[in-house]
Amino acid sequence: MTSHGTPRDRILTGDTPTGKLHLGHWVGSVKRRVELQDTHDCFFILANMHAFTTRSDQPDEIRADTLEIVRDLLCMGIDPERASIFLQSEVPAIAELTFLFSMLLPFNRVMRNPTLKEEIKVKGLGENYPFGFPLYAVGQTADILAFRPVGVPVGEDQVPHLELTREVARRFNQKYCNVGDKVEDADHVDEGGVFPVPVADVGAVGRLVGIDGANKMSKSLNNAIYISDTAKQVQKKVNKIFTGRQSPTEPGDPDNILMQYCDIFIPDQDRVAELRRKYAAGEDIGDGHIKQELGASINALLEPMRERRLQFEQDSDVIDVLKRGTIEANRVTEETLAMAKEAAGLGFFPRTLDIH
Ligand code: TRP
Repeated sequence: MTSHGTPRDRILTGDTPTGKLHLGHWVGSVKRRVELQDTHDCFFILANMHAFTTRSDQPDEIRADTLEIVRDLLCMGIDPERASIFLQSEVPAIAELTFLFSMLLPFNRVMRNPTLKEEIKVKGLGENYPFGFPLYAVGQTADILAFRPVGVPVGEDQVPHLELTREVARRFNQKYCNVGDKVEDADHVDEGGVFPVPVADVGAVGRLVGIDGANKMSKSLNNAIYISDTAKQVQKKVNKIFTGRQSPTEPGDPDNILMQYCDIFIPDQDRVAELRRKYAAGEDIGDGHIKQELGASINALLEPMRERRLQFEQDSDVIDVLKRGTIEANRVTEETLAMAKEAAGLGFFPRTLDIH
């Protein structure tokens, strides 16, 4: 709700807890989330159930990662007064919708999802994945549709999940809400559908290359700068960025990883243009000098985040934020579930859910 009490459009996005967050998360997603808090009712899911698809033997780590990500999100400026950060595992409507939606999707269709295929390959799962692994893709459609959001801000890798979500919304509305199969996506709700057909809102910088200059920034590749890194750690990592340039007078590649980082993290674009020009010309400007400037800019970005971290040191502070967000998430999703059940002939009597 805005301060005037009019409802705002909702958005939903989130993370599977796999470890602390890094600059790739900030650039690719969280920065945008912080902005969206001004204009939308924002819900951010901690997909802690999905974490069990590949790590069911590590419940303690999943729990710790979950709390750590919430801490990182709060540090980065997600404001619990304005946005709801919540636990997937404490929103039963999501699990119930997953069951219902799984009936709307042919098994083959789920397995054709390129993101799943990629995950099977990258994680070397072979044929050795649990039933819950493909199920999570259906679950993600429920994570999203339970909020009836207008949009889902995500990185490019999540777009196939969004496509599946849009299919589920269409099929549900057609099967149970008499929405015709010629109706445009944008008109589904006006035509009586329970679910809007949500759009993927893919950020401008979809992915940040790691400090190795070769791969996407990620924990497993050891090429990440973490939001929780100290100023010293940050500068040390920046210093490791490899360009292959030998001397300050050697013309540098103006599009190399170092210059890309300057583009993204040095806010003064005139300064970046000047650096780039000198760099390309080999005008007596060393990599070391640029790395100092870049490191200082990254630290200027992270400093207020480090300060905010002090407010959320205790797990109980983080759990309190999650509890408030989860209550709000249940308020919305119980309403959606009741609508969906009613449409599918499953509306027998009302219920309430109590978190305390
Ligand atoms: N699959 C997403 C990831 O691994 C996390 C996620 C779960 C999500 N449910 C979601 C993202 C719903 C957007 C919307 O990053």
